[in-house]
Amino acid sequence: MSSHKLCMIPGPIEFHEDVLQAMATPATSHVSPTFIPALGESIELLRQILFTSGQPFIIAGSGTLGWDMTACNLIEAGENVLVCNSGYFGDRFGECLETYGANVTHVRVPIGDAPQLEAVSAALQGKKFKAITITHVDTSTGVLADIKSIAEIVRKESPETLIVVDGVCSVGSEEIRMDAWGIDVVITASQKALGAPPGLCVLGVSERAIGIFKARKTPVANYYANWNRWLPIMNAYEARKPSYFATPAVQNVFALHVSLKQIVAQGVEKRFVLHKEASAKVKKVVHDLGLKLVPTGLDHAANGMSAVYYPEGVAGTDLLPKLAAHGIVAAGGLHTEIASKYFRIGHMGISVTEPQRGHIDATLNALKSSLAECGYKVPQ
Ligand SMILES: Cc1ncc(COP(=O)(O)O)c(C=O)c1O
Repeated sequence: MSSHKLCMIPGPIEFHEDVLQAMATPATSHVSPTFIPALGESIELLRQILFTSGQPFIIAGSGTLGWDMTACNLIEAGENVLVCNSGYFGDRFGECLETYGANVTHVRVPIGDAPQLEAVSAALQGKKFKAITITHVDTSTGVLADIKSIAEIVRKESPETLIVVDGVCSVGSEEIRMDAWGIDVVITASQKALGAPPGLCVLGVSERAIGIFKARKTPVANYYANWNRWLPIMNAYEARKPSYFATPAVQNVFALHVSLKQIVAQGVEKRFVLHKEASAKVKKVVHDLGLKLVPTGLDHAANGMSAVYYPEGVAGTDLLPKLAAHGIVAAGGLHTEIASKYFRIGHMGISVTEPQRGHIDATLNALKSSLAECGYKVPQ
Protein backbone atom coordinates (compact mmCIF):
# COMPACT_ATOMS: atom_id res chain seq x y z
CA MET A 1 0.00 0.00 0.00
CA SER A 2 3.08 2.27 -0.14
CA SER A 3 1.74 4.00 -3.26
CA HIS A 4 -1.62 4.57 -1.63
CA LYS A 5 -2.78 8.16 -1.95
CA LEU A 6 -4.87 9.46 0.93
CA CYS A 7 -8.54 9.36 -0.02
CA MET A 8 -9.56 12.79 1.28
CA ILE A 9 -12.86 13.01 -0.59
CA PRO A 10 -16.27 13.29 1.11
CA GLY A 11 -16.55 9.50 1.12
CA PRO A 12 -15.32 6.84 0.77
CA ILE A 13 -12.89 7.87 3.49
CA GLU A 14 -9.70 6.33 4.86
CA PHE A 15 -10.22 3.05 6.73
CA HIS A 16 -8.65 2.01 10.00
CA GLU A 17 -6.31 -1.01 9.60
CA ASP A 18 -8.65 -3.13 11.76
CA VAL A 19 -11.57 -2.23 9.49
CA LEU A 20 -9.50 -3.18 6.45
CA GLN A 21 -8.52 -6.45 8.12
CA ALA A 22 -12.19 -7.30 8.73
CA MET A 23 -12.77 -7.15 4.96
CA ALA A 24 -9.99 -9.69 4.39
CA THR A 25 -11.54 -12.52 6.38
CA PRO A 26 -12.27 -16.02 5.08
CA ALA A 27 -15.63 -16.97 3.59
CA THR A 28 -18.16 -17.02 6.41
CA SER A 29 -21.75 -18.19 6.39
CA HIS A 30 -24.26 -15.41 6.96
CA VAL A 31 -26.05 -17.66 9.46
CA SER A 32 -22.92 -18.68 11.36
CA PRO A 33 -22.26 -17.96 15.04
CA THR A 34 -19.37 -15.70 13.93
CA PHE A 35 -21.51 -13.49 11.75
CA ILE A 36 -24.82 -13.30 13.64
CA PRO A 37 -23.45 -11.32 16.62
CA ALA A 38 -21.52 -8.97 14.30
CA LEU A 39 -24.75 -7.87 12.62
CA GLY A 40 -26.78 -8.05 15.84
CA GLU A 41 -24.31 -5.90 17.76
CA SER A 42 -23.96 -3.43 14.85
CA ILE A 43 -27.72 -2.84 15.06
CA GLU A 44 -27.38 -2.12 18.78
CA LEU A 45 -24.37 0.17 18.29
CA LEU A 46 -26.28 2.19 15.70
CA ARG A 47 -28.92 2.99 18.30
CA GLN A 48 -26.18 4.55 20.43
CA ILE A 49 -24.70 6.48 17.50
CA LEU A 50 -28.07 7.83 16.34
CA PHE A 51 -29.40 8.37 19.88
CA THR A 52 -32.57 6.44 19.16
CA SER A 53 -34.65 3.64 20.55
CA GLY A 54 -36.02 3.10 17.03
CA GLN A 55 -35.25 0.41 14.48
CA PRO A 56 -31.90 0.38 12.68
CA PHE A 57 -31.54 -1.42 9.33
CA ILE A 58 -28.23 -2.53 7.81
CA ILE A 59 -28.77 -3.73 4.25
CA ALA A 60 -26.42 -4.43 1.35
CA GLY A 61 -26.58 -1.42 -0.94
CA SER A 62 -25.49 2.19 -0.87
CA GLY A 63 -27.00 5.37 0.51
CA THR A 64 -29.31 5.62 -2.48
CA LEU A 65 -31.07 2.46 -1.32
CA GLY A 66 -32.01 4.45 1.79
CA TRP A 67 -33.97 6.86 -0.41
CA ASP A 68 -35.77 3.93 -2.04
CA MET A 69 -36.47 2.32 1.33
CA THR A 70 -37.91 5.54 2.71
CA ALA A 71 -39.96 6.31 -0.38
CA CYS A 72 -41.38 2.85 -1.02
CA ASN A 73 -42.16 1.98 2.60
CA LEU A 74 -43.39 5.27 4.04
CA ILE A 75 -44.97 7.07 1.10
CA GLU A 76 -48.05 5.92 -0.80
CA ALA A 77 -48.75 7.07 -4.35
CA GLY A 78 -50.35 10.51 -4.44
CA GLU A 79 -49.05 11.65 -1.05
CA ASN A 80 -47.24 14.97 -0.70
CA VAL A 81 -43.60 15.22 0.31
CA LEU A 82 -41.70 18.43 1.01
CA VAL A 83 -38.02 18.31 0.03
CA CYS A 84 -35.67 20.84 1.67
CA ASN A 85 -33.32 21.14 -1.24
CA SER A 86 -29.83 22.53 -0.73
CA GLY A 87 -28.24 20.97 -3.80
CA TYR A 88 -27.74 17.92 -5.99
CA PHE A 89 -28.82 15.36 -3.40
CA GLY A 90 -32.14 17.11 -2.77
CA ASP A 91 -32.89 16.90 -6.50
CA ARG A 92 -32.03 13.22 -6.52
CA PHE A 93 -34.05 12.34 -3.42
CA GLY A 94 -36.99 14.18 -5.01
CA GLU A 95 -36.62 12.08 -8.18
CA CYS A 96 -36.59 8.89 -6.11
CA LEU A 97 -39.75 9.90 -4.24
CA GLU A 98 -41.51 10.68 -7.54
CA THR A 99 -40.59 7.20 -8.78
CA TYR A 100 -42.97 5.84 -6.14
CA GLY A 101 -45.75 8.28 -7.01
CA ALA A 102 -45.12 11.02 -4.43
CA ASN A 103 -46.13 14.60 -5.21
CA VAL A 104 -42.92 16.41 -4.45
CA THR A 105 -42.61 20.09 -3.55
CA HIS A 106 -39.08 21.46 -3.35
CA VAL A 107 -38.09 24.34 -1.09
CA ARG A 108 -34.93 25.51 -2.80
CA VAL A 109 -32.20 27.89 -1.71
CA PRO A 110 -29.51 29.72 -3.65
CA ILE A 111 -26.29 27.69 -3.99
CA GLY A 112 -24.37 27.77 -0.71
CA ASP A 113 -27.32 28.71 1.47
CA ALA A 114 -28.93 26.43 4.03
CA PRO A 115 -32.67 25.67 4.08
CA GLN A 116 -34.51 28.69 5.48
CA LEU A 117 -36.78 28.06 8.46
CA GLU A 118 -39.33 30.67 7.31
CA ALA A 119 -39.61 29.05 3.87
CA VAL A 120 -40.15 25.61 5.41
CA SER A 121 -42.77 27.04 7.75
CA ALA A 122 -44.55 28.80 4.87
CA ALA A 123 -44.56 25.62 2.76
CA LEU A 124 -46.11 23.67 5.62
CA GLN A 125 -49.06 26.08 5.70
CA GLY A 126 -49.97 25.36 2.07
CA LYS A 127 -50.60 21.59 2.07
CA LYS A 128 -50.62 18.52 4.26
CA PHE A 129 -47.31 16.69 3.79
CA LYS A 130 -46.83 13.03 4.62
CA ALA A 131 -43.11 13.66 5.02
CA ILE A 132 -40.42 16.29 4.83
CA THR A 133 -36.90 15.40 3.75
CA ILE A 134 -33.82 17.35 4.72
CA THR A 135 -30.31 16.72 3.40
CA HIS A 136 -28.28 17.19 6.56
CA VAL A 137 -25.06 17.83 4.65
CA ASP A 138 -25.47 18.29 0.95
CA THR A 139 -22.23 16.75 -0.28
CA SER A 140 -22.45 18.81 -3.47
CA THR A 141 -22.20 22.12 -1.59
CA GLY A 142 -20.86 21.28 1.86
CA VAL A 143 -23.92 23.02 3.32
CA LEU A 144 -25.09 21.90 6.75
CA ALA A 145 -28.83 22.13 7.41
CA ASP A 146 -30.14 22.97 10.87
CA ILE A 147 -32.15 19.79 11.21
CA LYS A 148 -32.88 20.39 14.90
CA SER A 149 -34.65 23.71 14.24
CA ILE A 150 -36.41 22.43 11.11
CA ALA A 151 -37.67 19.39 13.02
CA GLU A 152 -38.91 21.69 15.80
CA ILE A 153 -40.93 23.74 13.30
CA VAL A 154 -42.40 20.64 11.67
CA ARG A 155 -43.32 19.12 15.03
CA LYS A 156 -45.10 22.35 15.97
CA GLU A 157 -46.80 23.25 12.70
CA SER A 158 -47.46 19.86 11.13
CA PRO A 159 -47.00 17.22 13.82
CA GLU A 160 -48.16 14.33 11.63
CA THR A 161 -45.50 14.95 8.99
CA LEU A 162 -42.69 12.40 9.11
CA ILE A 163 -39.24 13.97 9.40
CA VAL A 164 -36.68 12.27 7.19
CA VAL A 165 -32.99 13.22 7.29
CA ASP A 166 -30.57 12.27 4.54
CA GLY A 167 -27.56 11.81 6.78
CA VAL A 168 -25.37 10.03 4.22
CA CYS A 169 -22.72 12.74 4.59
CA SER A 170 -23.37 13.54 8.24
CA VAL A 171 -23.88 10.49 10.44
CA GLY A 172 -20.67 10.07 12.42
CA SER A 173 -19.41 13.61 11.79
CA GLU A 174 -22.35 15.90 12.67
CA GLU A 175 -24.50 16.00 15.76
CA ILE A 176 -27.77 14.08 15.31
CA ARG A 177 -30.08 13.15 18.16
CA MET A 178 -32.89 11.26 16.53
CA ASP A 179 -35.28 10.80 19.44
CA ALA A 180 -34.63 14.09 21.25
CA TRP A 181 -35.07 16.08 18.03
CA GLY A 182 -38.10 14.07 16.88
CA ILE A 183 -36.55 12.70 13.70
CA ASP A 184 -38.31 9.72 12.13
CA VAL A 185 -35.79 8.46 9.60
CA VAL A 186 -32.04 8.91 9.29
CA ILE A 187 -30.53 7.52 6.10
CA THR A 188 -26.83 6.86 5.81
CA ALA A 189 -24.25 4.56 4.28
CA SER A 190 -21.11 2.80 5.41
CA GLN A 191 -18.52 4.70 3.39
CA LYS A 192 -18.54 8.15 4.90
CA ALA A 193 -18.07 9.11 8.55
CA LEU A 194 -19.05 5.62 9.67
CA GLY A 195 -15.59 4.70 8.41
CA ALA A 196 -16.22 1.43 6.55
CA PRO A 197 -15.99 0.52 2.86
CA PRO A 198 -18.92 1.29 0.56
CA GLY A 199 -21.53 -1.43 0.31
CA LEU A 200 -24.02 -0.93 3.13
CA CYS A 201 -27.13 1.17 3.42
CA VAL A 202 -27.77 2.09 7.05
CA LEU A 203 -31.04 3.44 8.39
CA GLY A 204 -32.51 4.49 11.70
CA VAL A 205 -36.32 4.49 11.76
CA SER A 206 -38.48 5.75 14.62
CA GLU A 207 -41.16 3.61 16.25
CA ARG A 208 -43.71 6.14 14.98
CA ALA A 209 -42.55 5.66 11.37
CA ILE A 210 -42.63 1.87 11.74
CA GLY A 211 -46.23 2.22 13.00
CA ILE A 212 -47.18 4.38 10.00
CA PHE A 213 -45.50 1.87 7.70
CA LYS A 214 -47.47 -0.99 9.25
CA ALA A 215 -50.74 0.93 8.81
CA ARG A 216 -50.23 1.68 5.10
CA LYS A 217 -53.19 1.03 2.82
CA THR A 218 -51.43 -0.05 -0.36
CA PRO A 219 -48.76 -2.74 -0.86
CA VAL A 220 -45.10 -1.72 -1.01
CA ALA A 221 -44.13 -1.37 -4.68
CA ASN A 222 -40.64 -2.80 -4.27
CA TYR A 223 -39.37 -6.30 -3.59
CA TYR A 224 -35.83 -6.00 -2.10
CA ALA A 225 -36.42 -2.76 -0.18
CA ASN A 226 -39.67 -3.85 1.49
CA TRP A 227 -39.45 -3.49 5.28
CA ASN A 228 -41.95 -6.34 5.69
CA ARG A 229 -39.11 -8.56 4.51
CA TRP A 230 -36.30 -6.86 6.45
CA LEU A 231 -37.91 -6.17 9.83
CA PRO A 232 -38.02 -9.86 10.82
CA ILE A 233 -34.43 -10.24 9.66
CA MET A 234 -33.14 -7.31 11.71
CA ASN A 235 -35.12 -8.55 14.72
CA ALA A 236 -33.75 -12.08 14.35
CA TYR A 237 -30.11 -10.98 14.13
CA GLU A 238 -30.57 -8.71 17.12
CA ALA A 239 -31.98 -11.70 19.03
CA ARG A 240 -28.83 -13.57 17.83
CA LYS A 241 -30.90 -15.98 15.73
CA PRO A 242 -30.17 -17.03 12.15
CA SER A 243 -32.52 -15.76 9.49
CA TYR A 244 -32.52 -15.21 5.75
CA PHE A 245 -34.18 -13.02 3.18
CA ALA A 246 -31.30 -11.91 0.96
CA THR A 247 -27.63 -12.64 1.62
CA PRO A 248 -26.05 -9.94 3.78
CA ALA A 249 -22.72 -8.46 2.69
CA VAL A 250 -20.85 -10.47 5.32
CA GLN A 251 -17.40 -8.87 5.12
CA ASN A 252 -18.85 -5.36 4.81
CA VAL A 253 -20.81 -5.98 7.99
CA PHE A 254 -17.67 -7.27 9.76
CA ALA A 255 -15.89 -4.07 8.72
CA LEU A 256 -18.77 -1.83 9.79
CA HIS A 257 -18.97 -3.66 13.11
CA VAL A 258 -15.30 -2.91 13.83
CA SER A 259 -15.75 0.73 12.91
CA LEU A 260 -18.95 1.18 14.95
CA LYS A 261 -17.23 -0.33 17.99
CA GLN A 262 -14.36 2.14 17.57
CA ILE A 263 -16.80 5.06 17.26
CA VAL A 264 -18.70 4.13 20.41
CA ALA A 265 -15.49 3.34 22.33
CA GLN A 266 -14.07 6.78 21.54
CA GLY A 267 -17.39 8.43 22.40
CA VAL A 268 -19.93 9.90 20.03
CA GLU A 269 -19.93 13.29 21.81
CA LYS A 270 -16.16 13.50 21.54
CA ARG A 271 -16.42 12.66 17.86
CA PHE A 272 -18.71 15.64 17.26
CA VAL A 273 -16.18 17.95 18.94
CA LEU A 274 -13.20 16.52 17.03
CA HIS A 275 -14.96 16.98 13.69
CA LYS A 276 -15.80 20.59 14.56
CA GLU A 277 -12.18 21.28 15.50
CA ALA A 278 -10.76 19.67 12.37
CA SER A 279 -13.24 21.51 10.19
CA ALA A 280 -12.36 24.85 11.80
CA LYS A 281 -8.69 24.15 11.13
CA VAL A 282 -9.31 23.34 7.45
CA LYS A 283 -11.57 26.33 6.97
CA LYS A 284 -9.06 28.68 8.60
CA VAL A 285 -6.34 27.56 6.19
CA VAL A 286 -8.75 27.91 3.26
CA HIS A 287 -9.53 31.45 4.43
CA ASP A 288 -5.87 32.33 5.03
CA LEU A 289 -5.06 31.14 1.53
CA GLY A 290 -7.59 33.64 0.21
CA LEU A 291 -10.00 30.94 -1.01
CA LYS A 292 -13.77 31.07 -0.73
CA LEU A 293 -16.05 28.35 0.56
CA VAL A 294 -19.19 27.33 -1.33
CA PRO A 295 -21.34 27.63 1.85
CA THR A 296 -22.19 31.31 2.22
CA GLY A 297 -21.54 31.33 5.98
CA LEU A 298 -19.49 29.32 8.47
CA ASP A 299 -22.61 28.82 10.60
CA HIS A 300 -23.99 26.48 7.94
CA ALA A 301 -20.80 24.85 6.68
CA ALA A 302 -20.43 21.11 7.24
CA ASN A 303 -17.90 19.80 9.74
CA GLY A 304 -17.02 16.65 7.81
CA MET A 305 -16.13 18.23 4.48
CA SER A 306 -15.27 21.52 2.81
CA ALA A 307 -16.39 22.69 -0.63
CA VAL A 308 -14.01 25.38 -1.88
CA TYR A 309 -14.02 27.55 -5.01
CA TYR A 310 -10.85 27.47 -7.12
CA PRO A 311 -9.16 30.85 -7.02
CA GLU A 312 -9.10 33.04 -10.11
CA GLY A 313 -6.74 31.59 -12.70
CA VAL A 314 -6.57 28.06 -11.22
CA ALA A 315 -8.50 25.25 -12.90
CA GLY A 316 -9.55 21.95 -11.36
CA THR A 317 -7.85 20.12 -14.21
CA ASP A 318 -4.62 21.70 -12.97
CA LEU A 319 -5.04 21.60 -9.17
CA LEU A 320 -6.49 18.12 -8.62
CA PRO A 321 -3.68 16.23 -10.42
CA LYS A 322 -1.11 18.29 -8.51
CA LEU A 323 -2.78 17.36 -5.22
CA ALA A 324 -2.72 13.72 -6.34
CA ALA A 325 0.99 14.03 -7.12
CA HIS A 326 1.41 15.11 -3.49
CA GLY A 327 -0.44 11.97 -2.42
CA ILE A 328 -3.85 13.53 -1.78
CA VAL A 329 -7.02 12.59 -3.61
CA ALA A 330 -9.59 15.40 -3.45
CA ALA A 331 -12.92 15.53 -5.29
CA GLY A 332 -14.04 17.89 -8.02
CA GLY A 333 -17.32 19.78 -7.98
CA LEU A 334 -20.68 18.00 -8.20
CA HIS A 335 -23.38 20.67 -8.19
CA THR A 336 -24.23 20.89 -11.88
CA GLU A 337 -24.41 24.71 -11.99
CA ILE A 338 -20.91 25.25 -10.57
CA ALA A 339 -19.23 21.85 -11.01
CA SER A 340 -16.08 23.14 -12.75
CA LYS A 341 -15.61 26.00 -10.29
CA TYR A 342 -14.90 24.23 -7.02
CA PHE A 343 -13.40 21.20 -5.32
CA ARG A 344 -14.20 19.20 -2.21
CA ILE A 345 -12.13 17.84 0.64
CA GLY A 346 -13.43 15.29 3.11
CA HIS A 347 -12.33 15.49 6.74
CA MET A 348 -14.10 12.64 8.48
CA GLY A 349 -13.40 9.50 10.45
CA ILE A 350 -9.89 8.40 11.38
CA SER A 351 -8.35 11.32 9.48
CA VAL A 352 -9.94 13.47 12.19
CA THR A 353 -10.25 11.23 15.24
CA GLU A 354 -6.63 10.05 15.02
CA PRO A 355 -4.76 13.30 14.31
CA GLN A 356 -1.44 11.54 14.86
CA ARG A 357 -1.92 10.05 11.39
CA GLY A 358 -1.29 13.53 10.00
CA HIS A 359 -3.92 13.27 7.25
CA ILE A 360 -5.32 16.78 7.71
CA ASP A 361 -1.90 18.42 7.88
CA ALA A 362 -0.72 16.45 4.84
CA THR A 363 -3.82 17.57 2.92
CA LEU A 364 -3.44 21.23 3.86
CA ASN A 365 0.28 21.22 3.07
CA ALA A 366 -0.41 19.57 -0.29
CA LEU A 367 -3.07 22.19 -0.99
CA LYS A 368 -0.63 25.03 -0.29
CA SER A 369 2.11 23.47 -2.44
CA SER A 370 -0.23 22.57 -5.29
CA LEU A 371 -1.74 26.05 -5.43
CA ALA A 372 1.78 27.53 -5.57
CA GLU A 373 2.68 25.11 -8.39
CA CYS A 374 -0.43 26.32 -10.25
CA GLY A 375 1.06 29.82 -10.06
CA TYR A 376 -1.34 31.02 -7.39
CA LYS A 377 -0.08 33.73 -5.08
CA VAL A 378 -1.75 34.15 -1.69
CA PRO A 379 -3.14 37.70 -1.46
CA GLN A 380 -1.25 39.74 1.15
C1 LIG B 1 -26.05 13.51 0.97
C2 LIG B 1 -26.01 12.27 0.14
N1 LIG B 1 -27.13 11.56 -0.05
C3 LIG B 1 -27.15 10.45 -0.76
C4 LIG B 1 -26.02 9.95 -1.35
C5 LIG B 1 -26.08 8.71 -2.14
O1 LIG B 1 -25.31 7.73 -1.49
P1 LIG B 1 -24.60 6.55 -2.29
O2 LIG B 1 -23.65 7.20 -3.26
O3 LIG B 1 -23.92 5.77 -1.21
O4 LIG B 1 -25.66 5.80 -2.99
C6 LIG B 1 -24.81 10.64 -1.19
C7 LIG B 1 -23.58 10.16 -1.81
O5 LIG B 1 -22.54 10.75 -1.73
C8 LIG B 1 -24.81 11.82 -0.42
O6 LIG B 1 -23.69 12.49 -0.22
